[in-house]
Formats: sequence, structure tokens, C-alpha cells
Amino acid sequence: MKNTLIAPSILAADFANLQREIEMVNASEADWFHLDVMDGVFVPNISFGMPVIKSIAKHAKKPLDVHLMIIDPDRYIKTFANLGTDVLTVHYEACTHLHRTLQAIKAEGMQAGVAINPHTNVALLEDTIKDIDLVCIMSVNPGFGGQSFIENTYKKVKQLRKIIEANGATTKIEIDGGVTNKNAKQLVEAGADVLVAGSYVFGASNPTKTITDLKKIVL
Ligand code: DX5
Ligand code: ZN
Repeated sequence: MKNTLIAPSILAADFANLQREIEMVNASEADWFHLDVMDGVFVPNISFGMPVIKSIAKHAKKPLDVHLMIIDPDRYIKTFANLGTDVLTVHYEACTHLHRTLQAIKAEGMQAGVAINPHTNVALLEDTIKDIDLVCIMSVNPGFGGQSFIENTYKKVKQLRKIIEANGATTKIEIDGGVTNKNAKQLVEAGADVLVAGSYVFGASNPTKTITDLKKIVL
């Protein structure tokens, strides 16, 4: 049976009560912690840096899925490995030598992810797909939580699924941005393996139940 993973995005959490939010995710049916790192250059926003990530890592009891929205991400591969990152995702648009970056992430014992912006065609990943553990298809323009889902994403998921199968790869497909109970099922039917949800989870009156409900939808 297919087990779709749910990764709550901490960007939408209440930072004044971070420990409580992390414990909520620990005790929930969520699978991963999704951490959005923004540098104010690659995307027009700054999120959180190392001291905050260190604190999150200390309390998190589930895998850390780190999404780097930064230029020149190679500079931080070792740092994130030392913080206990399980999946490290860099942006296709931020890497001049993507293949080299992927090898460097794996050499540090992490799974290597590649995120693509809404304008980036999935076919551009054809030549590296066997080296990619996870493709994060951005279903909003990166930089902010709480934006609306871009409908063209379904088409991209289907195209990427075909590329993965044609190459005999085991790459997971992750969807990031605007995920709710309205699009979760259709995304999984199109071929998604991991759903990131920020404001839909943390903005809910009962985040734990929202995660359980999302898990049920994608069973
Ligand atoms: C956007 C981030 C997302 C964001 C998702 O740049 O990569 O992970 O937190 O938030 P929602 O689910 O609110 O769209
Ligand atoms: Zn993200």
C-alpha cells in the first residue's frame, strides 16, 4: 500500500511557542518536519537561521526535511548534515553544478532533494533523476506561506512520474505550497509521495486532527 507522507511546514508555526508546536508534530501522524530556509536573495523573504534550526532539531523526533531557498547552497551542506538533516533540498535554479551538489549532499549521508519553481520544466531533471532522492515541485512561488495552489502542478507531477518510471529511478515527488484537503487526493493520484502543508495545518483550530484528516484523505 502506498504511504503518502505528510510534512508540516514549520514556517507557519507560532515561533513564540515553538517547542509546543514541535511537540504537536511529534505526537501527530505527521511523517516529517519541513523546514524552509530563506536568504532574502533567492527569494524575497528571510525565514530562520541556524540557532532556530538547532533548537528545532533538538526537540524534533521525526526526520528533518530541509528546503533551502538560498543562493549557492553548497556553502551550507556540511552545516545541515551536522544539524541532523535527513533530506536536504536545493533549488534547481540556484545550482550551477547541480550534479556536483547532489553528490556532495549524499557524501554527507543525507538524501538529496531538488526543488523546482513553478516556471521550471520537469524535463530539465531527466539527466539527473537517478541521482535525486526527492523532487520538490513548488506549487506556489517560493518565499511565503499561505499562497494559493497553482493548478498546473498536477500536469507537472504526472510528467515527472513518467520520467521517474522511464529511468527506473526511486525518486520521491514532494509538493510544496497551498496544499489542503481540497487538492491532496488529486495530487496523490497524479503521483505525489510527500505533501508539505504549512498554513493549512498550523492555521487550523485543531492542527493534530488536520494532520490525521490529511493522512486519511491520501491513504
Ligand atoms: C514556500 C515554502 C513552503 C510553505 C508552504 O516558499 O517552501 O514550504 O511553508 O506553506 P503553505 O502550505 O502555507 O503554502
Ligand atoms: Zn518549503
